[in-house]
Amino acid sequence: MSSTAVIGAQWGDEGKGKVIDIIAAKAAVVVRSQGGNNAGHTVVSHGETYKLHLIPSGILYKNTLCLVGAGVVLDPADFIGEIDNLSARGISFDNLRVDYRAHIIMPWHTLIDRLSEEHRPDNAKIGTTGRGIGPCYADKYERVGIRLYDLIHPDVFREKARTIGKLKNEIITKIYGGTPVDIDKTIAEYLALGEKLKGYAADVSVLVHEARKAGKTIMFEGAQATLLDIDWGTYPYVTSSHPVSAGVALGSGVGPNSVDEIIGVAKAYTTRVGAGPFPTELFDQTGETIRQNGFEFGTTTGRPRRTGWFDAVILRHSVRVNGLTSIAVNKLDTLSGIGDLKICTAYEKPDGSRLTEFPPTIEELAECKPIYETLTGFDDDIGACRTFEELPTACQAYIKRTEELCDCKISMVGVGPDREQIILRK
Ligand code: GDP
Ligand code: IMO
Ligand code: MG
Repeated sequence: MSSTAVIGAQWGDEGKGKVIDIIAAKAAVVVRSQGGNNAGHTVVSHGETYKLHLIPSGILYKNTLCLVGAGVVLDPADFIGEIDNLSARGISFDNLRVDYRAHIIMPWHTLIDRLSEEHRPDNAKIGTTGRGIGPCYADKYERVGIRLYDLIHPDVFREKARTIGKLKNEIITKIYGGTPVDIDKTIAEYLALGEKLKGYAADVSVLVHEARKAGKTIMFEGAQATLLDIDWGTYPYVTSSHPVSAGVALGSGVGPNSVDEIIGVAKAYTTRVGAGPFPTELFDQTGETIRQNGFEFGTTTGRPRRTGWFDAVILRHSVRVNGLTSIAVNKLDTLSGIGDLKICTAYEKPDGSRLTEFPPTIEELAECKPIYETLTGFDDDIGACRTFEELPTACQAYIKRTEELCDCKISMVGVGPDREQIILRK
């Protein structure tokens, strides 16, 4: 019996989907605990590519129980759309369950997400995915949210949707000058979706607890990442949930001691989509080469990802706030042929002093200059390497030095997108 959480260690898109898929192969239960369809997890299996947004990646395994916890925000149309698309590819949804307490993304959430971004000055735009994530979580904490339980009880839903919808339309029209949501149409559409979702509703907390008592192997599938965490990320350029490991317990309804192993997933370099400071960002040809070689374009929105060197300060922050037991480093293959490799070991502050811990505010972060160490690069195609010893010496040195600087074991090294293209280290 064991349970593992897979957590994004940087700004997202680290290749969590691939690591999750590898671990899910051995898990009886896979649980999503937070976030929503802002996530985009890619799994490449036997030459087939799957892009999963809200459905737990365990769904690709026939007998795996796939759970969506209370901490998730759920867009019903998108969720049903994802089920329909995957069903057409032969995937079964008999083992999917969603917690009654999961909050529902309503049309006013997506609209307000878009309108509030439009109304921010250019230098304050967050660059959200536009999926209504922030406004939905805001309503949850304001205690005016609508949950899955409400959606599958038509009388409760109608009343809540009318009262809350009216209030939201005031905001949409009076504050943003937008077009109001047609509430009656929304109610009809959502009730039809609720009918489809009814069969999946369950108490996920109880299901995870029972699985653990029965000695089953559980995997908690993280979405987003540490630097996008509402408290531990680069606020306000973050998402509105808790992607850090503590969010796993909160979002699925189990105690923190229900997680045995916590794997942080990182890339061998750094990327981010959306706005906010990024100390090791590259604006030159090397940055562009990494973007092209690594296909660094968003899984959810298609936006080009910003690229930069590996930042060990970020990883040390991730190790600490998540209690990482090991790190998986993906996309080492992308660095082939780009020349010498740089790793940021610390930051230099404007007064010339050296900072080794990630600063708590973006104001301080924006002033930090990366201090680099340069390592020899490599030109080999490493996609076929399956053991650490098969990697070129320069790759081995890069991983070992990274491990030292992050002060955490690197247990996996990704050498390509396929589920087979991973090196497991003892
Ligand atoms: P996630 O959100 O963390 O699951 O990551 P995404 O799926 O959004 O983005 C990661 C991208 O990198 C996907 O296109 C993966 O197929 C790809 N990928 C994952 N691991 C590797 C790797 O080791 N090498 C290469 N070249 N691509 C990888
Ligand atoms: P996965 O799970 C990368 C980013 C958005 C934006 C900020 C807020 O695939 O790693 P939101 O729509 O959540 O309010 O946007 O967070 N963001 C992600 N970036 N990967 C993700 O998920 C992300 N989910 C949200 O780009 O900067
Ligand atoms: Mg992604």
